[in-house]
Amino acid sequence: MPKVGVLTGGGDCPGLNAVIRAVTRTAINNNWEVIGIKNGWRGLIDKDYQTFNLESVSGILPKGGTILGTSRTNPYKKEEDVEKVKITYKELNLEALIAIGGEDTLGVANRLFQEGLNIVGVPKTIDNDLNATDYTFGFDTAVNIATECIDRLHTTAESHHRIIVVEVMGRHAGWIAVYSGLAGGADVILIPEIPINIEEVCQLIEKRHSRGKTFSIIVVAEGAKFKNAKEVLKDQEVDEFGHVKLGGVSNILGKLIEERTGYETRVVVLGHIQRGGTPTAFDRILATRYGVKAMKMVLEKKYGKMVALRGNQIIDVPLQEAVAELKTVDLKIYEIAKTFFG
Ligand code: F6P
Repeated sequence: MPKVGVLTGGGDCPGLNAVIRAVTRTAINNNWEVIGIKNGWRGLIDKDYQTFNLESVSGILPKGGTILGTSRTNPYKKEEDVEKVKITYKELNLEALIAIGGEDTLGVANRLFQEGLNIVGVPKTIDNDLNATDYTFGFDTAVNIATECIDRLHTTAESHHRIIVVEVMGRHAGWIAVYSGLAGGADVILIPEIPINIEEVCQLIEKRHSRGKTFSIIVVAEGAKFKNAKEVLKDQEVDEFGHVKLGGVSNILGKLIEERTGYETRVVVLGHIQRGGTPTAFDRILATRYGVKAMKMVLEKKYGKMVALRGNQIIDVPLQEAVAELKTVDLKIYEIAKTFFG
């Protein structure tokens, strides 16, 4: 039987198990064997894997996280690690490998493809910042979680006549902030794509209060920057792909708002709650469609490509296109959100 490997790399997100299940079911239906590689690229370096059967993927569709485990391992950090990845791929006698991940995992996938491995990519990330696809799976779930939190924060903010600043994830793109802020009726939304102007934020709050409102909800993306300043970092550490750890912009913003407007302000950082738990129906279906298509591409030997959503069609695009640049927020949607500011 020909063999296909599957791995999940980078930050986890809801829908990963739905892809693994769809890949496995499609592969087994076509008499292929599936090898589940543990913890992203780390599993190929450490030879940590298992053979999947129908039972391995039974019941995992609604489960968050990934049954394979994940890591932010970058095999290109050490030459011997890339070699180990290639050796394990060969020893396992893999015909192809399906890599489910974001910018980093797919960047590695693209390099390995250029160096001779047969790879198909599947775009995952709650941040929705991958190029060449309309949506990544995981994003819809994160937006729904953040929206529910914003709804809940409305009632407490209103009861106490407070400003609440809600910090959401998204790294250097404001997709989660704009979508959850728009869906949750935020009074101001701040994103990395547009520098924060604190005077303007306070004016919008004052404008709202002048028409009788006694509370406001401000949604801020973790990567949002003040004018002429850098992003706010949790600490100075970077991961194996050189990414900084974002977090804390809401604390600075909350203090400034309270100082300047005099309104009592609270800060809520949603953090990893946005990545946990069961995927929405939209993400389950998108992830399933991606998984079936990825395995079909393996059957057709269409390598060096990623599955992508365009309109309502699942298509394939070159991996190179997906990792070429970050997909930042479409400012047309931000303009719509601005209609409801203040
Ligand atoms: O890329 C997904 C993401 O959740 C980002 O939104 C966030 O900045 C980062 O991962 C957090 O990473 P970690 O899980 O390493 O704290």
